[in-house]
Amino acid sequence: MAKLRVGVLGAHAWAEKAHLPGWAAHPDVEIAAICDIERSRAERMAEMFGAKAVYTDHRELLADASIQAIDVCTPTVTHLPLSLDAIAAGKHVMSEKPLHTQAQPAFDAAAAAAAKGVRTKLGFTFRYSPAIRRLKGWIEDGTLGEIFHIHGLEQNSQFLDPDYELRQFDVSSPRDRLIPASIVGYGSHLVDLMRWLGGEFASVASTMRNFVPERLVRGLEGRQRFQVEDGTVALVEYERGAHGMLQTSYVAVGNYPGIEIRVYGSKGAAVARLVTEFGQAETLTLAKADDVEFRPQALTEAELPPGTTLATPWPELYFRNLIRFFVDEIVEGRPEECTFLDGAKSQQIVDAIVAAHFGRRWVDVGAA
Ligand SMILES: NC(=O)c1ccc[n+]([C@@H]2O[C@H](COP(=O)([O-])OP(=O)(O)OC[C@H]3O[C@@H](n4cnc5c(N)ncnc54)[C@H](O)[C@@H]3O)[C@@H](O)[C@H]2O)c1
Repeated sequence: MAKLRVGVLGAHAWAEKAHLPGWAAHPDVEIAAICDIERSRAERMAEMFGAKAVYTDHRELLADASIQAIDVCTPTVTHLPLSLDAIAAGKHVMSEKPLHTQAQPAFDAAAAAAAKGVRTKLGFTFRYSPAIRRLKGWIEDGTLGEIFHIHGLEQNSQFLDPDYELRQFDVSSPRDRLIPASIVGYGSHLVDLMRWLGGEFASVASTMRNFVPERLVRGLEGRQRFQVEDGTVALVEYERGAHGMLQTSYVAVGNYPGIEIRVYGSKGAAVARLVTEFGQAETLTLAKADDVEFRPQALTEAELPPGTTLATPWPELYFRNLIRFFVDEIVEGRPEECTFLDGAKSQQIVDAIVAAHFGRRWVDVGAA
């Protein structure tokens, strides 16, 4: 079988740690070309991961008709325009999150991909945690019964130190008002996970805060006073009636990636903890209504992407799994999941959480 030929846009930190190892590990994939506006970066990654072609202009890469899929791993503001160009060129597209900081352009991109008949995937890394996927299975097969409560945390201490530079930050942001940040960056992942597990959100209430008043931001000299939102707490009413609670934080002490999901149902409860500790990427525990102690659950080899263990660093572990699913969806025509449409819906929920904070009221999702 001919290999799926992939072109990767963006050749820096996250591409090196997560995306390129994921593509390189797949036996049915050829990394055909790498593009970065900084040529030396593209050349270095091409040498490390065996790509034959290097570009500095994505349009030249897209003109190669033999390339079937594009991976967008560039700064946030470029995700949407690069993805739209790839769709227009008739390529399947995987993009880093968020596709856009507003929901409507993301909905439009999802519609453009559907009209063109190409597959999409959004980089919602944690859907591809083996523990989270097992938990999802327990919800679907009834092991947990009717779902009452879903609690989601995404927090670590990445930006606790004011001298650690905040990246992906618009330096022209106003200085006199709170700038939604952790709920946008971390939050889009977390609300996607909670929506995937519990179904559509009906309504949200929230509170957001800046905890570190001055810090370094990429692009400006010295510590800057911006009211960057470091932490958000939200309450959720699900359409199916479950209750949800979520928290995102840049300044909560603990290791990466700092995801914890707890699901409580009428028959059982499960906790997936994606926090790298003592050499292991994640843990999963399960309690039953008639056996209420949370017992550790072993994940089987078949639940992990081939060649990985729970000691594999989490960016590579989860991205190898995400890419494995994307390739199977394209090559075997399997149903899509974790698409641009999911990205748009996650963004819509983030917008509602932000509106609830500023309006100090409950906001129905889609009405923000
Ligand atoms: N899903 C996750 O868990 C996760 C984790 C970390 C980072 N990310 C996201 O991944 C993306 C990349 O992260 P990073 O830390 O590597 O960012 P980065 O800014 O360090 O690197 C981005 C690279 O893209 C290149 N680039 C910029 N515009 C380009 C264009 N038009 N065409 C080609 N290349 C271009 C830059 O020169 C740079 O080398 C970001 O959007 C980030 O938010 C996601």
